[in-house]
Amino acid sequence: MTQDETAAQHSANVDSLTAAARSAALGAYRPYSGLGVGAAGLAVGPDADQPAGDSDGRVRIVVGCNVENASYGLTLCAECSLVSDLHRTGGGRLLEIVVVSHAGEPLAPCGRCRQLLHEHGGPSLVVHTARGAVPLGDLLPDAFGPGDLA
Ligand code: THU
Repeated sequence: MTQDETAAQHSANVDSLTAAARSAALGAYRPYSGLGVGAAGLAVGPDADQPAGDSDGRVRIVVGCNVENASYGLTLCAECSLVSDLHRTGGGRLLEIVVVSHAGEPLAPCGRCRQLLHEHGGPSLVVHTARGAVPLGDLLPDAFGPGDLA
């Protein structure tokens, strides 16, 4: 792939993920904060030894929305629901993610969700934020991860 093709693919991914995240935000259960959140991720797998973007259809979009709770603290963020969708649809790894409000504004994942995303995408997961594409490793440096349990 040329640099131009890579840039075009990148922007196509952002557009598709943003549209999917906005659509997911419509499903938010948000009686307490009023803030609807939608998350959409590009996922590959579950076979880690296969290159991303191959033609067998394993690259897919997974989505989630926030689901609030009267206890407040038990609220599920949109990213939690996205991780559930990742496993519901066969598992694998997250490559890129977009999180938006119901108004379509980009949102940064909260601290807890950065840890959750790290488990399923690692430090190279690309997070599309208001200031552009940022690797998760920059948003959660020196993360605790599965390797620390050895
Ligand atoms: N929220 C998310 O869905 N993801 C985040 O990363 C931050 C916060 C939700 C939780 C709650 O329903 C609402 O936003 C306000 O905090």
